[in-house]
Amino acid sequence: MRIFQNHSLKAYNTFRIDCKAAFFVVVTSVSELRKILAEPDFLKLPKLFLGGGSNILLCRDYEGLVILIDLKGISDLGNGLIKVQAGENWHEFVLWSIHNGYNGVENLSLIPGNIGAAPIQNIGAYGVELKDVFIELEAFQIDSGEVHLFDCKSCHFAYRESVFKKAYKGKYIILSVTLQLRKDGVVNTSYGPIAEVLNQMSIYNPSPKDVSEAVISIRSSKLPDPKEIGNSGSFFKNPVILKSHFEEIKKEYPDVPSYAVNDSEVKVPAAWLIEKVGWKAKRNGNYGVHDKQALVLVNYGGANGKDIYKLAQDIQSSVKDKFDIYLQMEVNVIE
Ligand code: EPU
Repeated sequence: MRIFQNHSLKAYNTFRIDCKAAFFVVVTSVSELRKILAEPDFLKLPKLFLGGGSNILLCRDYEGLVILIDLKGISDLGNGLIKVQAGENWHEFVLWSIHNGYNGVENLSLIPGNIGAAPIQNIGAYGVELKDVFIELEAFQIDSGEVHLFDCKSCHFAYRESVFKKAYKGKYIILSVTLQLRKDGVVNTSYGPIAEVLNQMSIYNPSPKDVSEAVISIRSSKLPDPKEIGNSGSFFKNPVILKSHFEEIKKEYPDVPSYAVNDSEVKVPAAWLIEKVGWKAKRNGNYGVHDKQALVLVNYGGANGKDIYKLAQDIQSSVKDKFDIYLQMEVNVIE
């Protein structure tokens, strides 16, 4: 294991923010992870664990040890059970599953980041969430060095939530995730735009590969490619509000979109709220709000994390003032 000092993190976060880590190391096995955590020189230093870096905004240099989790491997355990190591890229895994005749994760094509991050925020898109195919995960408890197994129930999955963002925040490192895939070819095209794109392609009996391609086409048309424009996908969560509150908004904006949650609450697209308060496509030098999806904040090159964080806070204030709705950030901000 090579320890780098004063190492740029630009290549390790999809926002492409050029902050530095005082110390940086890549671990490729659990034994390496144990070894670096036991290293006397680093015992007292703060530590930051990185996977694909697709859900983080760095606002400053990190005065501690950054550990990149780079565990690799996909094992087919039979009967559709697939165990994937945390450092595998999510989208490459989706392509692997389709190539091997599996279905279940095709709607989650092109989501940036690694497998290890997927359960932390229960990634979801186009009618499917990770929890729908999740069986269990192995996680390393940082304080004890023990490896614990979590099943679906003990992960407490919810919309963009899990126990690893709440009670166990900062306590565990995900090592591997086991998913239940299928070979029945049954696909989920319930999310409107997927059906539209498939129709345009004159595909009436779509395979998992067709659905994956439709999702890739929708995402590519709306979301910036982090390889070209630094970003972290949705910066905010879609807020859940009371129906009575929603009805008030609807009086002024009859076209306000919503998704049903339960009898008393609805979810409103944060992108719609941000657009209505006028932030969509606003650019301030080298950072701004994406022009095709208002939920995505972007670094056009050389932006500073603090500026993007300030922009996010200004958006929160505008939405609070206009709609009395608090937009929760989805991205982890290192202030
Ligand atoms: N809309 C606007 N302005 C915009 C974009 C969207 O008004 O700039 C409105 C449209 O009316 C549209 C509605 O918002 O009908 C919903 O838009 P979209 O289908 O793009 O979905 P979203 O709710 O904005 C969520 C996820 C995305 C995921 C899509 C599709 C969250 C926070 N985001 O976005 O996830 O791809 O649904 O399932 O739940 C991500 O997490 O990085 C991500 C991209």
